[in-house]
Amino acid sequence: MKPTFKTSKNLVLFAGITSLFASAAFAESGDADKGKSVYESTCIYCHGASGKGEIPGVPNFNNADGVLAKSDEELIAAITDGFESPGSAMPMPAKGGNPDLSDEDIVNVLAYIRSEFGS
Ligand code: HEC
Repeated sequence: MKPTFKTSKNLVLFAGITSLFASAAFAESGDADKGKSVYESTCIYCHGASGKGEIPGVPNFNNADGVLAKSDEELIAAITDGFESPGSAMPMPAKGGNPDLSDEDIVNVLAYIRSEFGS
């Protein structure tokens, strides 16, 4: 009876640790392929296919010391809640103006931006 109990306890522990790793990996690296379609349906109108920005006031994602130097946490907050830098010509709308975007979409689109434009 005792060994059986021990095994099942270890199994539960193992499952817990595995799911912890899985969620940490998800938070750090979204799916850039899925993020591409989010970018192309919502962000591209202002940020452009090249990531250089189509409108005055939109940052160039390709600058090595530009906005992509910020942390994932900061950028996810900026995308989710909107963002306006001091003296900005134009604010970034929350979720790029698309309220249908999920948290997962935002993690994915950030992964796409980093892989496509990040240096
Ligand atoms: C209506 C135009 C517009 C759309 C659509 C838009 N953005 Fe932006 N975005 C901006 C502007 C303008 C800024 C710069 C704002 C500022 O610096 O005040 C910006 C800034 C950013 C930044 C930098 C934030 C920071 O902390 O410096 C990121 C990242 C970003 N946008 C991602 C996205 C993503 C992802 C999408 C699509 C989900 C998106 N944007 C859609 C206009 C837009």
